[in-house]
Formats: sequence, C-alpha cells, structure tokens
Amino acid sequence: MSDDRRLIEDYLPIEAISAEASREKSVRKGHISTLHLWWARRPLVACRAAVYGALVPASRFVPNSGGEAKRKSLGRANAAKFVTSLCKYPGDPKVIAEAQRHILEAHAERLTRETGQPVTVADIEAGRAPRPKVLDMFAGGGAIPLEALRLGCEAYALDLNPVAHIIQLCTLVYPQKYGQPDPTARGMTGPPAPLAPGGRGVGGEGVKPGETTWGGLAKEVRYWGEWVLKKVKAEIGDLYPLIPDPAFQGKREPLKDLFGTEEEVPPGYLVPVAYLWTRTVTCKNPTCKAVVPLVRQTWLCKKKDRYVALKMVAKASRGRKPTESARVRFEVVEAKTEKGLGFDPAGFSKAGNATCPFCGTVANNDYVKEEGKAGRMDTQPMAVVCTRPGARGKVYLDADGLDAKLLPDDDAIRHRIAALCERTGLTVPDEPMPKPGTLGFRVQPYGIKTWGELFTPRQMLSLLTFAAAVREAQKANSGLDAERAKAVASYMGLFVSTMSDWNSALARWICVGEKLGDTFGRQALPMVWDFAELGPFGNASGNVSDRLDNTCTAIGLFSVVELDGKEDRGSATTQTWTANEVDSVVTDPPYYDNVPYADISDFFYVWIKRSVGHLYPEHFSGQGTPKKQEAVADASRHGGDKRKANTVYEGMIAQSLAEANRVLKPGLLQS
Ligand SMILES: C[S@@+](CC[C@H](N)C(=O)[O-])C[C@H]1O[C@@H](n2cnc3c(N)ncnc32)[C@H](O)[C@@H]1O
Ligand SMILES: [Zn+2]
Repeated sequence: MSDDRRLIEDYLPIEAISAEASREKSVRKGHISTLHLWWARRPLVACRAAVYGALVPASRFVPNSGGEAKRKSLGRANAAKFVTSLCKYPGDPKVIAEAQRHILEAHAERLTRETGQPVTVADIEAGRAPRPKVLDMFAGGGAIPLEALRLGCEAYALDLNPVAHIIQLCTLVYPQKYGQPDPTARGMTGPPAPLAPGGRGVGGEGVKPGETTWGGLAKEVRYWGEWVLKKVKAEIGDLYPLIPDPAFQGKREPLKDLFGTEEEVPPGYLVPVAYLWTRTVTCKNPTCKAVVPLVRQTWLCKKKDRYVALKMVAKASRGRKPTESARVRFEVVEAKTEKGLGFDPAGFSKAGNATCPFCGTVANNDYVKEEGKAGRMDTQPMAVVCTRPGARGKVYLDADGLDAKLLPDDDAIRHRIAALCERTGLTVPDEPMPKPGTLGFRVQPYGIKTWGELFTPRQMLSLLTFAAAVREAQKANSGLDAERAKAVASYMGLFVSTMSDWNSALARWICVGEKLGDTFGRQALPMVWDFAELGPFGNASGNVSDRLDNTCTAIGLFSVVELDGKEDRGSATTQTWTANEVDSVVTDPPYYDNVPYADISDFFYVWIKRSVGHLYPEHFSGQGTPKKQEAVADASRHGGDKRKANTVYEGMIAQSLAEANRVLKPGLLQS
C-alpha cells in the first residue's frame, strides 16, 4: 500500500450521511436506542462511516490512470458512491460484506508491513492473524463499537459509567454470544433435546434429554419478560382499573376484575393509558388557603379538527369564601378549532408562579419552593386518558367526574409498598439526588431530595413490583447456565430501568400526537408542573408490552452482528489496554457541559441496582455512578467556578487522548 492516508482524512460524503442519520433518528422500533436510553447516542450510519473511513485508505477509490486532478475527483466520486450506499439504515448485507472486505484487505496489507510476513484476508478470517482493533474509549450506548463489529473489526468499548456498561454488555456481548438457538444448552423456548434410539438421552452438555433447549436470546428474554409481566399484572393490575365508558348505551357486563388489556375488556369499559396530574400548593393568602394548581398548560389533543383541553373552573362552595378544601374542577372541553375552546389552555402558571384561581393571590416561585421544601407540595388529578377497544383515538375524561375508586388511594398504596419491601428486602430508592445547582437539575429547590421522590406512590409500587418480579424470575430460571441466566436477567434490569423513564412524575403528555413523553425528553431533569402518569397495561407509548417488544427486537438486530465486543468499565484517562495494541480509536467524547452523564444516569442506576445489581456487585454496589473521574465541565463540582470546570474537563480529555495515543499503534490515526 503506497499511500495509507485514510478516507476520513481525505473525503467523506457528509451531506448524504447526515441526511440518512436524521432519517435513522425517526426509527422508533427495532433500533439500538429502543433497548435503553443513552443520551446523545450517535446514529449508527454516522458511526459506520467513521469506522470505515478510519480503516480504509482513500487510495482504494482512486483510478490508476489520468491526470492528478481528475484521478482525485474520480476517487472522491467513487468513494461517495460506495460510502453513501454503505451508510443506509439498517444497511444492505451485501454492501456491508463488501465494506468488511475493503477493511480486511487494507488491514492485511498493514499487518504484512508490520510483521514482515505475508498476511492475507483468509488468514484474518481464519483467526491466524488478528482483526483490526477499534477502540471507543467513551463508548456510552455502544453505537460506535456495534458498527465496528458489524464491519468485521474487533471492538473495544470503554466507559466510566456502570449504566452505560450494562447497556454495552446487552448490545455488544450477550446478543452476539447467545443470540442464536443452541440445542446443546438449556433454555425455555427451543425444541426439547433429542432422545437417542432406544430412549437413551443424547442431550448436549447441561441439557437432559427431553428438556427444552436455548431458543436464542431474544426468544428467551421474551419468555421471561412475559413471565414477569404476568406476575406484575396479577399483583398490581388492580391499581389501574378499567373505566366505565360514559358514552356506552347498552347494558354493562359486571367486571370480574376491574383491569385487563384491550383484548380482555368487555363492552362498556375504557382502558386507562395515562393519568394527568397537576402539582399544587396551598394558597398563601391566610383568608383563602385554597388549593392552587401549578399546572402550566392543559392541552390534551391538538390536531386538525380536534382541539381538546382542560378548563379550570374555580367555584367556592355555595357562595362561601374558599376554604382549605376548595380546589378547582377540571372540565374537558373539545372544539373543532383552537379558538372554539373559548380559553387559552397554555395560560396558566409561568415558571412556577401561579395565581390562586379563587382569590387571585400569586403563589410566586419562592413560595412554591418553600412549600415544596416543607413537604407541603401535593398533587391533584386532572384527567384520565383512555382508549376505547376497537376504536381509534383517545377518550379524555375529567378526573372530577370519576368514581374515587378509579383513582389511586395513596395511603393504601403506601401500605402495600411497605409490605412489598418487607417481603422482598427491596427498598424505596432513598439515594440522595445531586446537590442543588448540579448541571441539568432543577427539581431539588422544590424539596425533592431523593431519587424515589420523583415517583408517585403508585409509580413506586409499580416499579418495585417489577424489580421484585425480575428477581423472582432469576430464581425461577436458575436451571440455566450462570452466564446465560445473567444475560437474560440483564435485559430485565434494563427493562425495569426503562419503565422508570416512562413512569415518573416528570413525564409529560404530548398533545400533538396524543402520546406520553418519557422523563428524558431532554438530557436534564427540569421541574414538571403538570405530569402524565403511565397506565402501564394500556397501549399508549411506554406501555409494558411495547417496551418488551422493543427489547426483543433490538436483541434480534444486535444478534446479526456475529463478532462480540470487548468492553471494560473504567476511565479513559487511565486505560488498561497495552501500548501499541489498537489499530484505530474512533470515539465521541463528552462535550464540556452538554450532558451531565453520571448525575442523570443515577436515575436509572438505582433501579438497575435493585433489580439486577447483585449480579454486578463490582459495578452496582455503590450509592450511585462514579463522578470523580468523569470528564464533564460542571461548575457545581468546582464551587461554581466555570473556568476551573472547563480547565479540569480539558485536562481529562487531554489525558484521555494521551492514553489513546499510547495504546494506538505508532503512526496511526485517531478520529
Ligand atoms: C458523548 S457520550 C458517548 C455516546 C456514544 N458515542 C453513543 O453513541 O452512545 C460520552 C461518554 O463518555 C463517558 N465518559 C465521561 N467521562 C469518562 C471517562 N473519564 N472515561 C470514560 N468514559 C467517560 C460518559 O459516561 C458518556 O457515556
Ligand atoms: Zn387564594
């Protein structure tokens, strides 16, 4: 190879890759991101382009004859054509195979040069010579290493964060190791191990004849996921009762159980998919003391020809002055136009300043903070969003019109939480939130001190019940070999963690699209005054069946990548790889104060710890994720000194790059 200048140093069709990357972002099902959230995860096609471009020489595309300028421009045109076809999502297997060949050919030539011995692609494929080693030292959600594996490389993933680490295991290691059916291993979903003629067993190692075998990771996870869902539903389904349909004319069948999925719902009932709440404080006017809703906006549905919102109605009872118990009613109003509603659904509290609807006194933000800190901030139900089985669209019911038994009884639920904790040894997440002022956090000034306080009692019971069921599933499948059982359990742990994202008191109702939004609409935790609580067994975004589907589809996608990754948890500033070991470093460093990864991922850490943390004691026995070595420019870690935060961050990135340089083969490229 005369000229080893790489494609990424010369030319990549950035515009085409960017266009495809934004298309990839709209893939909602069967994508790496549907396994578990990781903030700022890179589009796979962009990662593929970077890995390919870092390993293939630009000269590969340059014709041998013609003038230099012409050869150069033809070379770029050829490269653009190939890279554009390679970087399609999900990707054409033939083009990917061709890209692998390009990478291995270039690598074989380099190995020949390095070792002085002839090395061929066949040698690499047969394992007689190493594949190119690609390191991502800030691997996060694992997008770059996954693409490196897809392109036939050996991928090394490093991240400091234990949540990222377990996501990486579930993306880069378990699906590749255990993705396919295996008749020699025990499982629940594969065919029974055969009997030899005469009835004697010929099961593989660890499998007795007649026992079911390993049906492949996605199927096994689905089996155990459904096991967990069934158990959880039996335990807490009663907390989400079906709602009598006010529009139903016929005779309503009595319900055996008041809950069920759409398929099981008898005529005359609706399935609750989300409960909408406002936070409240008591009016500061001593002669009023009514309940002041802090809701910012009450939009429910905003689409052509259908505008639905909640109107706030404040009436003191029978002309008397409002009392402590006075609270507004919310009424569902529907119109064909926005104007037709007759009020502005977005005109309520602003930045936590709310006007008492009874006496007009303003509960300003400082007062709201004080009330929150004193434990006097409360919630009031505004509406329930339902689906009508067999019909399209959502049905909105105001909470005040519902029988109280259709809404949660917090005291009773708290007793159930205590009983569950007593029975299982689980605890409500009482790990402290980061201190006020931490980058990205706005909730602590309102009195929220622990991670557990981000959930309503019903959400808490639901998540703890999930965590307990996941732990029971691990006991029930103890017949599996330990590593496979650990793999299956890990997806269940990520499942619980994902449920916490969709079912916290910081999730919102999105009126455009009429769907639930998850907690991390942004890479931060701002205060939410009007939140949406998921009805987990309904069919709105975030529901448990869809989440399980997403997990299994993602595993299926990862399983088609045959090589498995090597991942490690640690700091990029002190890497354990030996010097001159790696062929390319392709990485995406944390950027100054863009995302406070360690602090926000504690939101998930506490749930993973409770469901599968005991399987990873080396990563999940702390209070939270490690912070000291994290490369982030968070001024709150340096007494509010932004310049110092930037300097420390830059020092860590410089040190990480120095490490990358040490582990990289001499004279090679980092991108
Ligand atoms: C921009 S993100 C990487 C995202 C990744 N490319 C993806 O597609 O998901 C940066 C990552 O660096 C990690 N990180 C921060 N400081 C680190 C350190 N000192 N060593 C290793 N990883 C670190 C963070 O936990 C985060 O996952
Ligand atoms: Zn008042």
